[in-house]
Amino acid sequence: MPDTLAETTPDPLYAALLDTGLDLGLVTDPETAARFATDASRRVVAVPELVVRPADTSGVAAVLHLCHQADRRVVVQGGLTGLSGGARVNPGEVVLSLERMAHVGPVDDLAAQIEVGAGAPLQKVQEAAAQAGMIVGVDLGARGSATIGGMIATNAGGIRVLRYGMMRAQVAGIEAVLADGTIVSAMKGLDKDNAGVDLRQLFIGSEGTLGVVTRALLRLHPAPTLEVTALCAVDSVDKAQALLRHLRARLGPLLSAYEGIWPEVYEGACAMSCDPPLPTGAGLYVLAEIQGMREILQDDAFEAALIEAYEAGLCRDVVVSQSAREHDRFWALREACVEYTFSLGQLVPHDLSLPARALPAFLTEARARLSAIDPEARPYIYGHLGDGNLHYIVKTQARAEVSAALNGLAARMGGSITAEHGVGQDKAPYLSLVRSAEERQLMTRLKAALDPTGVLNPGRLLG
Ligand code: LAC
Ligand code: ZN
Repeated sequence: MPDTLAETTPDPLYAALLDTGLDLGLVTDPETAARFATDASRRVVAVPELVVRPADTSGVAAVLHLCHQADRRVVVQGGLTGLSGGARVNPGEVVLSLERMAHVGPVDDLAAQIEVGAGAPLQKVQEAAAQAGMIVGVDLGARGSATIGGMIATNAGGIRVLRYGMMRAQVAGIEAVLADGTIVSAMKGLDKDNAGVDLRQLFIGSEGTLGVVTRALLRLHPAPTLEVTALCAVDSVDKAQALLRHLRARLGPLLSAYEGIWPEVYEGACAMSCDPPLPTGAGLYVLAEIQGMREILQDDAFEAALIEAYEAGLCRDVVVSQSAREHDRFWALREACVEYTFSLGQLVPHDLSLPARALPAFLTEARARLSAIDPEARPYIYGHLGDGNLHYIVKTQARAEVSAALNGLAARMGGSITAEHGVGQDKAPYLSLVRSAEERQLMTRLKAALDPTGVLNPGRLLG
């Protein structure tokens, strides 16, 4: 029985790739290729017939040049942790995986930058930064698999946007390959460089539709010597927002995370991760974190601010981590939120962004809409409350109606249909809710200019 593409179908692209003589890490056997079929959205449409895993930038350039010539569609893949179906393969698409381009370092501790390959997992970069007494500003639960290239392409957010900004803010330099194989290098990493258009921005958040990120220089930040988290039980989202305002005013830039966990998710996550640090039954749980330097921090500034909040009725109950272990335990609880909602089956995910002032009204209205559409519908909500970013996940049979209603409501309230997970394929039908015709036309023109034949990530972002 023939079991490889080469033996069954004489694919001219496969032959041309072999002819390059380059180490391209080709995969054609269906069993191995199945690993590249989809991302964390878990939906499988097709198993790729050809996966290419170049070892370096010139390999990526050669592959794209040949795919461009052969008029083949390419889907770009990193760590496959995306939740919007951006990396999910469609029939006929060639997979370009950056997984072998995972080099990390060196760290430049004067510039506070690190050079990394696109395929480097975030955690490996964090470990290298830690060796030099520094941290990467963006952190997220999928750190073990999520790769820097994918995080740049999707402008990943995560748990510390409040303090350090999104991935865009971490990128000091980018090397990318265009759809026709042209290599563009903007790797100087200068903090200031006004010599024309900042081409790096083209590749950040454009989800691999304008080019493939192959290498990057990331900005690093001094590693905090003190990290403390507080888990707070609050009555309502209004109280949670008032608590945020209070902590920001008291602690300024020390505040490094402000996450919200709604009761249904809190109970489920506690059951998966640990004994509940606070009793169940509150209206909402908040995980607040400070990061600072022990030497210059008033140790009790956080606790003092929390006591004030408690006395002012902003929170009903609070527990502060007393050790690094406890700090990790609180964060494990936050990460268990993802695990818990995943364990409930194929629910309908939303990654909504709301203006702070609209957030409470959104929550009220969204519940009403849900019940009207499907009385059985159940929302599971958690997210980056300090950024106005809700992971609003719904158990319902009326999937399409619920998504249209929630995305539509968020859009009408001045929000976005995706705060941090990106558009991919799954949110593309909703893009027109949040981007005007002029904006979409401009995006289309950029796409046409950089990838006129539509080789890269077709159907992603613009639909
Ligand atoms: C999180 C991912 C799902 O916030 O974005 O845990
Ligand atoms: Zn998130």
